[in-house]
Amino acid sequence: MAKTNANKRILLLEGIHPGAKTCLEAAGFTVETEKSGFEGDQLAARAKGFHAVGIRSKTKMTSAVLEKLPELEVIGCFCIGTDQVALDHANKVGVPVFNAPYSNTRSVAELVMAEMVALSRRLADRTMQMHKGVWQKTATGANEIRGKTLGIVGYGHIGTQVSVLAEAFGLQVIYYDIVKKLPIGNARPCESLHDLLGRSDFVTFHVPDTQLTRKMMGEAELRAMKKGAYLLNASRGLVVDIPALASALKARHIAGAALDVFPIEPASNDGRFTSEVQELENVILTPHIGGSTEEAQEAIGLEVSESFVRFLKSGATTGAVNFPRVDVAEPREYPRIVNIHHNVPGVLGAVNNIVSEHGANIVAQHLATDPVIGYLIMDLGLPDPAELKTVAGKIGALKTSIRTYVH
Ligand code: NAI
Repeated sequence: MAKTNANKRILLLEGIHPGAKTCLEAAGFTVETEKSGFEGDQLAARAKGFHAVGIRSKTKMTSAVLEKLPELEVIGCFCIGTDQVALDHANKVGVPVFNAPYSNTRSVAELVMAEMVALSRRLADRTMQMHKGVWQKTATGANEIRGKTLGIVGYGHIGTQVSVLAEAFGLQVIYYDIVKKLPIGNARPCESLHDLLGRSDFVTFHVPDTQLTRKMMGEAELRAMKKGAYLLNASRGLVVDIPALASALKARHIAGAALDVFPIEPASNDGRFTSEVQELENVILTPHIGGSTEEAQEAIGLEVSESFVRFLKSGATTGAVNFPRVDVAEPREYPRIVNIHHNVPGVLGAVNNIVSEHGANIVAQHLATDPVIGYLIMDLGLPDPAELKTVAGKIGALKTSIRTYVH
């Protein structure tokens, strides 16, 4: 049976930023919120009857939970990761999952800038000494960052932001990326990682976690860095070989490091953290807080809410992590039928036959598929709402259909 998009109910769990509720209510949806998350049967019971559920990293949207939520049309992860959702299952039952991968870009870039100054002025050691009553006023080993060379590995969202801020500080920026990237400002690309390492006073990593990036900064790469250079990693924990870095720091080949991510991180704030680089001089350690700011939380709240609004009002799946992508604006002149179906031959023909039986003109038709499902959006020159409902009902009743909506 086709559903209309009126009276959509949205549940936001885990204390999602209040900006999300404001945005969704302004779009006309009914929103309920919870400060905490739920698990298993309790989660299924609380989310029952909602069309959209917003979660953060703790709520596990397992296959078993999804089975119990037939009304659920869309899931929003108000965070970066989406591992907490059974993505394949959600795909199979026609539920797109959205997240907010880039809302905390600026927060990470600002932390990196702060750390470059802090490393260059040995602030971690100085403040530790002061807390212990030690007054050590000295200029030895303290430098401005102005005029130095920053090497950025991974020139994506965060890397380019760092590039802009670093130039404003007077640094010369070089970068290395496996993909050819347009330089921002006066930044210059490097031919290879080793080329960058040999020329940089600071090296900062902003790459994803892939087979290629794991331990991309090992013993040989550390040796390729200039003596007295600094290393920063706020990307992924497996990028830097930590024991090799500890040796390079002890040998004073590397003058300091700032690490925000680690190969093994405690699962919660109750866990203990241990690392080979603890207690070493001029090493700044932070608990994966690069993107953790109130501004980023607010931006995440808005980004995912806007994805909800777009999907629920138009069917657009732009940015969904588990779904065929169709970018469409809200329907204005003509009504719209959205059909999620099993990706088997003949679906489009069957759908179009139904439409032509009713003499309706197809004003626009968009189809995208993945190996499991097809996603079809159709705007129809069918002004009679009752007939539109009949057409949608017939399409929804096809054996291939998973879900059908009318907008
Ligand atoms: P992005 O996807 O926009 O950029 C990554 C860049 O790395 C791309 O340009 C890509 O071509 C490049 N790249 C991939 N493999 C490479 C390789 N082997 N060598 C050189 N370049 C390579 O990602 P974004 O948003 O800039 O994030 C970067 C990293 O920061 C990610 O790993 C992300 O998980 C992490 N991150 C960490 C946060 C924290 O709290 N510390 C918060 C947000 C993101």
